[in-house]
Amino acid sequence: MADDTHKIIHAFGALADLGQAVADKNDFQETVRTSLHLISGAIGIMRGGVARYSRFGHELTLAAARGLGDDFPLCLNIGADDEKQFLINGLYPLEVDQAKTLPFFQRYGVSFDARNITLFVPLIIRDELLGALFLGEKATGEPYSSYDKEVICSMGRHIGVAIAQRNLMAELERRSAENRRLYDELKLTYKATVRAFATAIDCKDKYTEGHSVRVGKFAEIIAGELGWSEEETEGAAVAGYLHDVGKLTVERKIINAPYRINAKESAELNKHPTVGYQILQAINHPFAAVPDAAKYHHERLDGRGYPDGLYDREIPYIAKIVNLADSFDAMTTDRPYKRRRPANEVVEDLTRNSGKQFAPEIVSAFFRGMLNELSGDTKDKRFRRLLGREYMEAEGLAPMLRIALNEIGTGAAIRVMSLS
Ligand SMILES: [Fe+2]
Ligand SMILES: [Fe+2]
Repeated sequence: MADDTHKIIHAFGALADLGQAVADKNDFQETVRTSLHLISGAIGIMRGGVARYSRFGHELTLAAARGLGDDFPLCLNIGADDEKQFLINGLYPLEVDQAKTLPFFQRYGVSFDARNITLFVPLIIRDELLGALFLGEKATGEPYSSYDKEVICSMGRHIGVAIAQRNLMAELERRSAENRRLYDELKLTYKATVRAFATAIDCKDKYTEGHSVRVGKFAEIIAGELGWSEEETEGAAVAGYLHDVGKLTVERKIINAPYRINAKESAELNKHPTVGYQILQAINHPFAAVPDAAKYHHERLDGRGYPDGLYDREIPYIAKIVNLADSFDAMTTDRPYKRRRPANEVVEDLTRNSGKQFAPEIVSAFFRGMLNELSGDTKDKRFRRLLGREYMEAEGLAPMLRIALNEIGTGAAIRVMSLS
């Protein structure tokens, strides 16, 4: 009796250790090795192995072995009949001697006999064969008792669950890799579509060729300067590329009018933010604010913009960014009735209008980006590429930007003070 109690305590201790090993170890091989070690120790077995079953290859692959020698097969094939029998048997030890009618035991009988494999335990969890245990004779030479078999079953269940977990993880990893690949592909497609749209919009307006693409790039620079994340910055670029998408529905002759358009034509043109919003709203954008940028990119902080005459805080932030990028491009490119304005004049204009049309911190961010490039703080040549080297290297531009940054900073401070 005392001996039995001792055995039970020992076996339960091993079982608790096994549960812990299964729960703790991320390393599957290590878990299986520990499991085999614990079973051998608990029952007193010299030789044994744990194998994992592959449903696709219909084979058992040894994941851990103890005392099986080099000539024991590492992979064991299981036929459809064998699998059926194992499933009927369930997670319970089969006496190898009594199972010789099954093709599996006929095929590997020699190897089993050579190592005195006595028990074979199919690891079946929820009607699925996940692996198997091979156990040699007990060190004492005694036959396995029904008590031993119960302990083996309990431990077998733990190992089966560990294998099921491992299979699940492998499947999850495979699916998440597949998802990542699909997502990347989708992102590329989205980007390419956005660029194609921007080009289509710009095609319609022959005088402002490349406008949308440039606005996208300026918006990207601003977002970067504001410290936005990579994804948000990408979103700002998209918002810029698509801000004038509504112009696709405006008559070409109004867009391309080589004169100042009249009130009626102007009203027609001014519908483009609302139309753009309607077009973009129907699309699921990775960056949700893209439609807002189209709708509100002609709003001004002082409420004198369109279509809704919103005031500062009512205007979505992304629209403020695109508004600045848009205005900057309009000032720095030749129009049919107006030549591009010199850089110094543009900086002066943006400074003067900061707080009226433009958000001061956005103008500051934009100027900072320009100044960083001019002073060589960054290797980027984005402004030079977009505006031309000569334009950017106009005399006195860098000091002027420094003064403007100072002025805007002070102005912003005064405004905050007057609000409080
Ligand atoms: Fe516009
Ligand atoms: Fe525009």
